[in-house]
Amino acid sequence: MSIESGEFHRGRRLRRSPGIRALVRENEIRPADLVMPYFVAETDDPGFRKPIGSMPGQFQLSLQELEKQVGAAVKDGLLAVLLFGIPKVKDELATQAYADEGIVQEAIRRLKDSFPELTVITDVCLCEYTSHGHCGIVQKGGAILNDPSVDLLAKTALSHVRAGADMVAPSDMMDGRVLAIRELLDANGFVETPIMSYAVKYASAYYGPFREAAESTPKFGDRKTHQMDPANVREALREAAADLDEGADIIMVKPGLPYLDVLRLLRDEFDAPVAVYNVSGEYSMVKAAALNGWIDEERVVLETMTGFKRAGADIIITYHAEDVLRWLNK
Ligand code: PBG
Ligand code: ZN
Repeated sequence: MSIESGEFHRGRRLRRSPGIRALVRENEIRPADLVMPYFVAETDDPGFRKPIGSMPGQFQLSLQELEKQVGAAVKDGLLAVLLFGIPKVKDELATQAYADEGIVQEAIRRLKDSFPELTVITDVCLCEYTSHGHCGIVQKGGAILNDPSVDLLAKTALSHVRAGADMVAPSDMMDGRVLAIRELLDANGFVETPIMSYAVKYASAYYGPFREAAESTPKFGDRKTHQMDPANVREALREAAADLDEGADIIMVKPGLPYLDVLRLLRDEFDAPVAVYNVSGEYSMVKAAALNGWIDEERVVLETMTGFKRAGADIIITYHAEDVLRWLNK
């Protein structure tokens, strides 16, 4: 090989035109891969639509506003949503998390009624419903109790499925919760309902804006005794394997961008579908830069989504989903 002979690799041949680039493109964002999260608030005001300050473009919505918002997104091709609830009343036992008339349960019924084809997934955790903001039952002294919390999580999942949820997504990171949910769903005749487990969820600062959105900031302490240490990756394999053993149908990595290595690893190690959660802080950073005119939002977001696909994601949960669908439709 010599420069003079010109016989070196000419990678530019396949980048010459949009047509050739399209022919050799390896990854593509599909509308069917996207899941849009929504925050539904229990309120007497049907017009309630409260902007989330740290997440420009995202809102806490009343049931009525949620229906409108989802309706518009469905027209643009949205196929799946992930629901979070903000109850009026919070208590030590997260009673509203598993109340039959709870806000998420109502939202499920309303959405399935209006959009039967829409896949309604629910986040299963207690932190939006506990007075202290923790994901489980807190003992005197502040420790989060595992097994009693798991009982309530399973009850919560069952109440969502009874209300019509198509899939439940436990995000609490208590041990054994996938097994407990699977057993309780099966015992109640819901053997066909899949579980998407937040299997590999790190104790991340990137959840900051979400906690404003969901009003779920812990009043004391943190989530480091159940969420994973960001420094660990072998542990991710153990968590994912455990959840699959317990009956998870889909495993998730969360957050997304700082953990693409973990996403790739799970994709290579397991044959179950893998989801990635492009979390609130990742969204807020892009939005802040875009609102300042520092980046081209559309191109940055589509590049980010492509990155998730390239790293092996089958499913992308993202607050950009509505926008991405509009951009793909252009
Ligand atoms: C509830 C839950 C959280 C997120 C999803 N489910 C917050 C947390 O664990 O503190 C984070 C989502 C995001 O940041 O977008 N446990
Ligand atoms: Zn939680």
